[in-house]
Amino acid sequence: MSHDHHHQHGGHDHGDESALADLLDLDAQALPDHLPEVTALIRDHLDDRPVRRILDMGAGTGTGALALAERFPDAEVTAVDISDFMLTRLRDKARAHDVADRIHTRQADLDTAWPDLDPVDVAWASNSLHHTADPERTLADLFATIRPGGLLALAELISMPRFLSAAGELADLENRAHEILTAENAAHVPHVGADWSTLLTKAGFEIQTERHIHIALTSPLPTSATQLAHHTLQRIRTALSDRLSPQDAAALDTLLSPDTLTHRPDLTLRDERPVWIARRP
Ligand SMILES: C[S@@+](CC[C@H](N)C(=O)[O-])C[C@H]1O[C@@H](n2cnc3c(N)ncnc32)[C@H](O)[C@@H]1O
Repeated sequence: MSHDHHHQHGGHDHGDESALADLLDLDAQALPDHLPEVTALIRDHLDDRPVRRILDMGAGTGTGALALAERFPDAEVTAVDISDFMLTRLRDKARAHDVADRIHTRQADLDTAWPDLDPVDVAWASNSLHHTADPERTLADLFATIRPGGLLALAELISMPRFLSAAGELADLENRAHEILTAENAAHVPHVGADWSTLLTKAGFEIQTERHIHIALTSPLPTSATQLAHHTLQRIRTALSDRLSPQDAAALDTLLSPDTLTHRPDLTLRDERPVWIARRP
């Protein structure tokens, strides 16, 4: 999901990881229909074998792992992440949702050694593949981990969600900030926006569908969406602190002052989220 150079490669700064973890959780809370829509898409492309084993690659706080455990009640989910911080948060959530017995965590740096895993029926990689040093190699590892006939569901961001698109000149500010972030990503996280269809095919997968899910929440936003707006704009403000014009920085500071976003009737949540469902033949 949302992106800036502060969280490339898992981020080992706990303050930063904690902010990213909050953002990932808020995203799932603000868009409660999104992950169920993705897991339904996975279900619709399954072959006739039951789903028993699922891999969540770069699982973060486990919003995907939990949605998958819910959708496939007979499956065990292995959630892999480089970050102990994320995996601890994930285990806490699994306990709270009473699925701790079916969600297992594995700490691993997927750039150095792919973990030894039993073949899975479904693998889920959400906004994690672009973090790896060599996505082509990671896709080859994923291919080898998925059983023949099994599925890879890949979600990759295009950009951060937008909140100010209906807010007059603030929309221009958001556009300017996104342009700077895109340039930053090109330098620091070069695989964001890679040609995933081509890479999936090159790795041997057969693409079953590519779905662009469009999100457009309008006012009044639920509290979690307003909080997501605050966290996202705060990340933009911090990440771009020395690159924003003084006017843009001041406008963002005003927007981020307590309760300001809550009282803006023109706040929206807009995003486009591509998902690929690909089969290992
Ligand atoms: C943007 S988050 C996405 C988390 C989750 N999949 C989601 O969509 O909410 C990316 C995750 O990938 C993990 N990650 C980054 N590089 C990794 C690596 N080399 N090996 C394993 N995990 C990695 C990070 O720690 C982080 O939790």
